[in-house]
Amino acid sequence: MTSPDLTGRTVVITGAGRGLGLAMAQRVGRAGARVVLAERDAERGKAAETALRAEGLSAEFVTMDVADEMSVSVAVEQVATAGPIHGLINNAGLADGVGGKLFQEITVAEWDRIMAVNARGPWLVSRAVLPHLVDGG
Ligand SMILES: NC(=O)c1ccc[n+]([C@@H]2O[C@H](COP(=O)([O-])OP(=O)(O)OC[C@H]3O[C@@H](n4cnc5c(N)ncnc54)[C@H](O)[C@@H]3O)[C@@H](O)[C@H]2O)c1
Repeated sequence: MTSPDLTGRTVVITGAGRGLGLAMAQRVGRAGARVVLAERDAERGKAAETALRAEGLSAEFVTMDVADEMSVSVAVEQVATAGPIHGLINNAGLADGVGGKLFQEITVAEWDRIMAVNARGPWLVSRAVLPHLVDGG
C-alpha cells in the first residue's frame, strides 16, 4: 500500500508516546508530515520525539491530557502558532488497567476516568482542533 505524500502537513496524534499512537506517528512522519505527539506522559512523549527525530522525521512533543479542557486548549493553541493543522488522530485512551475486570468490579472513580479520557477526550480535542483544520483547508 502506498502512503499519501503528507509533506507540508501538520498532523496531531493524541497518546502518541507509545503503542498504536507511536506507530501511527512513525507512519505519518515517514509520509512527510510534521507530527505533533500530544501525550500526557512527558517522559514517553519526549522519548517518542527523540526516536522520530533520530529517523530524520519532523516531530514535536506537546503535553496534553485529553480529559482536561484547559490542557487541550493550551496545547492546541501552542501547535497552531506554527501554522494550520491538517489532520487529527484521536488515539489516546485507557486500554490497560481496565481490561479483565468484570463490570461490577469497576469502581465509580474508574468509570468516570474512563469516560473522561475515552469519550469526552476525543470530543474536547476535536472541538479545539476543528477551527484549525478549517484554516488548513
Ligand atoms: N491495543 C489494542 O488492541 C486496541 C484495541 C482497540 C482499541 N484500542 C485503542 O487504541 C488506543 C491506543 O491503544 P494502545 O494499545 O496503543 O494504548 P497504550 O496504553 O499502549 O497507549 C496509550 C497512550 O495514550 C496515552 N494517554 C492515556 N491517557 C491519556 C490522556 N488522558 N491524554 C493524553 N494521552 C493519554 C498514554 O500515556 C499512552 O502513551 C486506545 O484508545 C485504545 O483504547 C487499542
